[in-house]
Amino acid sequence: MTAKYSFRKYQPVSLRLWHWLNALAILGLLSTVLLRKTFLSWRANSALIENKLQAVGTTITPEVAKDIAVSIRDPMWDWHIYLGFALAALILFRILIGLFVVKKCPAGQSVKSTWNIFNVDKSERLKAFHFAGVKISYAMFYLATVFMVSSGLTMNFKNELGLSKDQITPIKELHELMMWFFVGFVVLHIAGVVLAELRDEPGVVSDMINGGDKE
Ligand code: HEM
Ligand code: HEM
Repeated sequence: MTAKYSFRKYQPVSLRLWHWLNALAILGLLSTVLLRKTFLSWRANSALIENKLQAVGTTITPEVAKDIAVSIRDPMWDWHIYLGFALAALILFRILIGLFVVKKCPAGQSVKSTWNIFNVDKSERLKAFHFAGVKISYAMFYLATVFMVSSGLTMNFKNELGLSKDQITPIKELHELMMWFFVGFVVLHIAGVVLAELRDEPGVVSDMINGGDKE
């Protein structure tokens, strides 16, 4: 791999710490959504509660069954909020790292690397294209995270902000839809670093663990 397009570089300790805490927060948030939609889905569980009670001769209204199912789900969903606050703190931490340690803006890096695609020799174009794609994916990740944090906090503090259900609904729908960006990012990112490690850039993952060469 031409050094110009290499992802191997010294990773400062603050960025490494941020990276792994951020990975945990994102995977945790996605897990809470997965649980909410599957094992702890109120629709599936309220029907189950109703059926099981009916089988032993007790009938309850669908509303009570829903209330029980939601109460079982809620302590798990609290983790969505805790991890949401953690992600909010992490994005602030990442901004401070950008300002004081790395001193490179992901948006600037994507523009620069995209510009480069058109200014390099044909033989290098594919590498330049891939490099730009990766940098753009990081800039999009940060943008999407800022959106998730602001929309999540807005929903969490809807009463304090005096927002009605009608005002919250479109925010909630967008927040829910944006989840798919994170699913795609995580799959492509992990596949990407594993392939880089196996092919052109062995050591790229350990750089994110031990920092790598300072040179
Ligand atoms: C699952 C959630 C994950 C998220 C959200 C995530 C996010 C990110 C982001 C945003 C960056 C860019 C950092 C920057 O320079 O501004 C990055 C870089 C990196 N990540 Fe992850 N990551 C995740 C998991 C992983 C895993 C599991 C691995 C290793 C197997 C990994 C390995 C790396 C490496 C080696 C880099 C540096 C490579 C480069 O500069 O392109 N990441 N990650
Ligand atoms: C990558 C990060 C995130 C992902 C993938 C994500 C995903 C989701 C999804 C899919 C829902 C809809 C669940 C449903 O109604 O079935 C949701 C709701 C919600 N999220 Fe997030 N979220 C993220 C970050 C955040 C953050 C940072 C907060 C801030 C505290 C937050 C707070 C909320 C709240 C308050 C709801 C509404 C729950 C309700 O209506 O009961 N989320 N999130």
